Amino acid sequence: MKDTLIKAISRQGSDRVFALSGRLTTLLALTLASVWPATLVAEEVVNVYSARHYDTDMALYEEFTRQTGIKVNLIEGGSDALIERIVNEGEFTPADLLITVDAGRLWRASEKNIFQPVESQVMDQRVPANLRDPDGLWFGLSKRVRAIAYNKAAGLPIDVMRYEDLANPALTDSVCMRSSSNIYNLSLMGSIIEAAGEAAAEAWAAGVVKNFARKPQGNDTAQLRAVASGECTITIANTYYLGRMIGSDDPKDNAVTDALTVVFPNQEDRGAHVNISGAGVTRYAPNKGNAIKFLEYLTSNFAQELFAQGNNEYPIIGPTSGPVATLGAFQEDAINAAVLGERQAQAVRVFDRAGWQ
Ligand SMILES: [Fe+2]
Repeated sequence: MKDTLIKAISRQGSDRVFALSGRLTTLLALTLASVWPATLVAEEVVNVYSARHYDTDMALYEEFTRQTGIKVNLIEGGSDALIERIVNEGEFTPADLLITVDAGRLWRASEKNIFQPVESQVMDQRVPANLRDPDGLWFGLSKRVRAIAYNKAAGLPIDVMRYEDLANPALTDSVCMRSSSNIYNLSLMGSIIEAAGEAAAEAWAAGVVKNFARKPQGNDTAQLRAVASGECTITIANTYYLGRMIGSDDPKDNAVTDALTVVFPNQEDRGAHVNISGAGVTRYAPNKGNAIKFLEYLTSNFAQELFAQGNNEYPIIGPTSGPVATLGAFQEDAINAAVLGERQAQAVRVFDRAGWQ
């Protein structure tokens, strides 16, 4: 604040005060600062571009302002649109921070060079190492799991305990899936390539394609509905879609989740595939210090609970609450979320070759 004022004063009065010593100039500036009209004093702000749109987020921002006096200016939009916007705004972007979903997208954003590395002991302590970029370009703030769900009444001809089981020929005409271009499936594929190699991942995808009950279509909610209605028997969906329907006021949504059995996959080996919502400080952030304070605040116990609950996600630290807590505990695949992005182009090629549309 003082820096800003001193700069402003120096610029205005440079002709008259240029002969004064540095110390006197500073003294003059500080004296003026104390009588400077409040309306001319720059307000402390942080400008957030967010792909999240939840009522609880507003409560989060208000509490941050109450604690720090820093006002949160929010611009909401789609993930890819916000990334493009920051690219186009270049060094003149007002954005200090981008909040978005899926490590694959955070990675795409970092590939477009819109983030800067952040060094923060708080972030390093609060965010598990596998849920943040190794260079501090972005940080996970909440988690979601890609879980398996099957029709409880219909049951399954085999025990399905791993993603790999979805390629078992016993499940012919049983599987509903979202399209392979969807970022959640690309990230899941990235994790399978990382675990098993490209050839095994392709064989898996081809096996799943053979088991499709219908062409890939719709979002995760559509897959869950199709399984509950019996159109197919089994699918994969992010846990927050389940949480949303479990906690819904609409009995039709509750009926969908009542008809499903949810499996956290790969509990005996690498763990279930985990993805994140997260954020990074932009390369040209005009309020970098405030952006880091805001990031650190989002890892506090208070903020974590609200941030996760807003979208029925799991906090990165602290206890789980809300409808997803009823799904129970699980082991997580601990690979670094950055790998999901690094494997993205490879994942596209594998899905293509396997014929997963
Ligand atoms: Fe989603």
